[in-house]
Amino acid sequence: MEKVVSLCKRRGFIFQSSEIYGGVNGCWDFGPLGVELKRNLKNDWWYVNVLQRDDMVGLDASIIMHPQVWVASGHVEQFHDMLVDCKSCKHRFRQDHLDGSRCPDCGGELTEPKAFNSMLRTRLGVSDDTATDTYLRPETCQSIFVDFKDIYATSRMKIPFGIAQIGKSFRNEVNPRNFIFRSREFEQMEIEFFCKEPEEAKWFEHWLECIWTWYTDVGLNPKKIRWFEHPKEALAHYSKRTTDLEYEFPFGWGELQGLANRGTFDLTQHAQHSGKDLSFFDPDSKERFVPSVIEPSAGVDRTCLAILCDAYEEDVIDEEPRVVMRFHPRIAPIKAGVFPLVKKDGLADIARDLERKLRRKFATFYDQGGAIGRRYRRMDEIGTPFCITVDYETKENSTVTIRERDTTKQERLPMDEVGAYLEKRCTSERN
Ligand code: GAP
Repeated sequence: MEKVVSLCKRRGFIFQSSEIYGGVNGCWDFGPLGVELKRNLKNDWWYVNVLQRDDMVGLDASIIMHPQVWVASGHVEQFHDMLVDCKSCKHRFRQDHLDGSRCPDCGGELTEPKAFNSMLRTRLGVSDDTATDTYLRPETCQSIFVDFKDIYATSRMKIPFGIAQIGKSFRNEVNPRNFIFRSREFEQMEIEFFCKEPEEAKWFEHWLECIWTWYTDVGLNPKKIRWFEHPKEALAHYSKRTTDLEYEFPFGWGELQGLANRGTFDLTQHAQHSGKDLSFFDPDSKERFVPSVIEPSAGVDRTCLAILCDAYEEDVIDEEPRVVMRFHPRIAPIKAGVFPLVKKDGLADIARDLERKLRRKFATFYDQGGAIGRRYRRMDEIGTPFCITVDYETKENSTVTIRERDTTKQERLPMDEVGAYLEKRCTSERN
């Protein structure tokens, strides 16, 4: 894990927020390479789950919602962690994270547990006497329920259909930890899939399959993921069944994504609290009913972390050790490095020109500094799947070499076929 964290910092994937001021615990900044990796993941998820489906529409709702939303959802009542303090060293712990009854840091006596709400409170309004308390949303899904009626009326969708959203969520986690695994500000990719109650089980199975396929398609090793079925007695207040997809991180198995059968809980709660009818009228069967909800809910940051851990590898090439990030080309932050073998004799101009052309469609990186082997290694370390080199033969017959990161094998290709090659290897094709 330390090696991944150090590479992320060294190469500009992820930094601690406000580091020059000492940092903010549980908040992280995605640097130039991290932001590309994260965007590629989100875009791929959106492409597969929204654009490629005719039973899905999207939403981008506000982070701040009416405070009553969180009463109806159960968050004001139920979104608590039980905390204990050490009477000696004053450290604070989540009771469910402790093994014994004494302080894990100093062995001191612990206080009785106290409930602590994990929502981040904020104030809305400019003057102290009229401003109202509300919260930064702890999950993106509630806006989907609250907007359900507007969305189905305007999009003319019929049950079964889903609404997807990618966006920030906030939780005042007591112990943010394991790098970006548990943070206080993070992003979720959530789908609320609305169906008839008798079809809940069928759609649950459908989403189990879709989730597994997406994670393996973006390159996660199937041997490092598994399902975890929540026991009935441990289900959240809204859930009839929850199954998590877990990844084997260096610190142990951890949840990447949840799949929950929320039944009619949320729409019924919001209908009661708002006084608005949130049932659905099926014009074909003339039935009116409150739809059930199957919810695939993924964390963007955790997915990034799993991808980073999974991609990290050390191997030896030509008797030299190298660090290589084996990102799937589809999500790699940079698709191709473009180099002149040497700067002189017009090779740099040809390489620059090729790089500019490729840049219109792909994230590329031009590098003319240092020995060619060093340039390859720098690209390997940030997971660039292909390196294109302009050499003396290019001047004779307009061909270049393409080197694959994983095998380090090189082949020659006409320069005007490089774009099509990258297109085939990096974009639309799925496994
Ligand atoms: N709407 C349901 C929901 O929010 P959840 O299991 O609490 O369910 C869903 O969260 C996903 O959001 C998790 O599987 C995880 O990937 C991500 N997530 C939750 N809390 C997180 C945190 N503190 N830091 C990073 N990701 C988090």
